Amino acid sequence: MIIAVDGPAASGKGTIAKALARHFRLPHMDTGVLYRATALNLLQTGGDPDSEFSAARATDIAQIDLDDPELKSETVGGIASRISVYPLVRQALLERQRRFADQVGGAVLDGRDIGTVIAPHADVKLFVTASPEARAERRFMELKRLGLNVHLPDVLADIRARDQRDTGRGAAPLCQAEDAVLLDTSEMSVEQAIATAIEVAGRPTRQS
Ligand code: DC
Repeated sequence: MIIAVDGPAASGKGTIAKALARHFRLPHMDTGVLYRATALNLLQTGGDPDSEFSAARATDIAQIDLDDPELKSETVGGIASRISVYPLVRQALLERQRRFADQVGGAVLDGRDIGTVIAPHADVKLFVTASPEARAERRFMELKRLGLNVHLPDVLADIRARDQRDTGRGAAPLCQAEDAVLLDTSEMSVEQAIATAIEVAGRPTRQS
């Protein structure tokens, strides 16, 4: 079974995807990590985020530790969002994601274009979202817990800017696949969101 989980920044899609993977005993890939690793590689090698060619060269992420906490930083996330608009970058990262999705036994992938581009043939597609305010509040609490000195209005502005770039880009923009089930987690606890996602995935939207 292939499960595609898409949605905007801080919607809870990563938490939901991990829980689905655990529940159905499937391997999980957070595809945002590939874009973040490319962004970190670009920063570390002095590349230019405004150059598509420079960013595409940085997709060779073999040297990047995919568990590096720096990958989670807002700076890296911002650059990841900027370079993910480039078709050359998306193309370079596509094969790795497709191979993961198509492995024997299936997989869970979360990102922005899993149900639309990477695995349009997925058995289950979820589009996880929440209001910008709810997402900003969650991200704010998360950053505070990490001991960072952040301001809620700045986090909200960042979320809105990220949404605009992710949905407005020409190449594989963030959008709900026609056959995806919408899961709005604005008013849900983490436990409720996970239980709903498991229930949806238990009744596949298409025959495999
Ligand atoms: O999910 P995330 O915040 O870790 O992703 C960082 C950026 O990577 C996001 O702003 C857009 C990009 N991304 C993408 O374009 N397609 C994906 N499948 C995953 C992430």
